[in-house]
Amino acid sequence: MHMISIHTKYYNTSRKVIAGFWIRSAETPMRGKMSEKLGTLEDLPEDYREDMTNAGVAPLWPMMRNVLPHGAPNPVTKPGYWKYDTLRPLLLRAGELTPVEKAERRVLVLSDPGRGTGAMQATSSIYLGMQLLLPGESAPAHRHTPAAARIIVEGKGAYTVVEGEKLPMEEGDLVLTPGGEWHDHGHQGDEPVIWLDALDLPLFVYLEGSYAEEAPLQAQRNRPDASQIEYVSSGLVPSRKRGIQSRRYPMMRYPWTRTKAALRQQMKYNNDQVAEIDYVNPETGEDVLPIMGFTAMMLNAGQADKPPLKSTSCAFHVISGSGTTVVNGEEISWTAKDTFTAPVFSEISHDATSEAFLICVHDRPLQDRLGYYEERQR
Ligand SMILES: [Fe+2]
Repeated sequence: MHMISIHTKYYNTSRKVIAGFWIRSAETPMRGKMSEKLGTLEDLPEDYREDMTNAGVAPLWPMMRNVLPHGAPNPVTKPGYWKYDTLRPLLLRAGELTPVEKAERRVLVLSDPGRGTGAMQATSSIYLGMQLLLPGESAPAHRHTPAAARIIVEGKGAYTVVEGEKLPMEEGDLVLTPGGEWHDHGHQGDEPVIWLDALDLPLFVYLEGSYAEEAPLQAQRNRPDASQIEYVSSGLVPSRKRGIQSRRYPMMRYPWTRTKAALRQQMKYNNDQVAEIDYVNPETGEDVLPIMGFTAMMLNAGQADKPPLKSTSCAFHVISGSGTTVVNGEEISWTAKDTFTAPVFSEISHDATSEAFLICVHDRPLQDRLGYYEERQR
C-alpha cells in the first residue's frame, strides 16, 4: 500500500501562528515511495468493477489524485471579470422587467467561469451578486444561515436594517448582515442604488446548511448606527462595565470615508508598498465575519504589486481608479466599479494606471480556522 506523506509545519508570522501543508519533495528522505502514476479503473477486470458498483463501493486509487493532487490544489475556479458598464444596464432592465415583490432580492449572480453561468458562486467559497433597489422600494426582512456583506457601488438614500439598526448605504461602505441576523433593505432616495453582495454561501450549500426565514419589515431604532455612536474612533470602545457584554457583531457598517482616509495615511509612510487594511470587529480585533474576510487596498498611480501566492480565493471590487491585473496569465483591465476574481494560489500582479482603491473579499478567516492558510513566495 502506498503512503501519501502529508506533513504539517507551523510557522510564525507577525499576525499569528498559521499552518501550511507541504508534501515531501524528491530531496526529502522518504520511508515509502510515492508513485507518480496510480492504477486506473481500466486496469481492473470488468466483473470486479461490476461487483464493486453493485456493492456501492469504488476503488480510491484511480480517484485519489483528483482529491489529493501533489503540492497544491487544482482549482475548478477560473479568473472572472465583470465590467460594471455591462452589468449596470442589465440590472436597470431587471428593474423594469421584474418588480421587487417578484424577486424579493433583485440580483444578478456573478458566476465563476470555471463552473459556468448560473453557478451560485464566484469562487470556491465566495458568492457574488449585484443587487438593484429602486427609489421607494423595500426588500422584505429575512435571515439566513450564511453571512453576507454589501459593498455599495452606486447611488444614495438606501439603507439596510439589521436587528433594528438602520445602516445607511453610501458608496464604498461595507455593510454586514451576519448569519442568523434579521435584515431588510429600504430606499428613501431618488435614484437607483446598486450594491455588490458577497456571501459565504457556497460552504453552507456544500454543508447542506443553507436556509432562510422571512418576516415583515423590522421596526427601526431611532438612533444612528454603531459606527456613528459607539465606534467613532479606532482604539476606542464603550467602557467594559461588569455584566455588560458587547454584541457579537458590534459594528455592522464600515464607512468608506474612514477606510479611504486610513489607507491614504498609511500610504504616506509606506515606502512604496501597497497600502492594505483589514476590516475587523472593533471589540475583538477578529475578522468581521466568521469565515469571510475583507481587505481594502490602495495603489498609487503607476504602482505595481506582486503579492505572494495565497491559499485563499479572492474577489476584487474596484472602488475607484483604473489599472491592470494579471491573474494566472490572464490580463484584466479594470476601472471603477468593476469586479474580478482569482482562484486559490493564483499568481496575481496589479498595475495601477491611476490612483486606485479596491476591496478584496477573501476566505482567509475560514482557512485560519481550519489551520491551513498559506502564503508562498514567488
Ligand atoms: Fe439576505
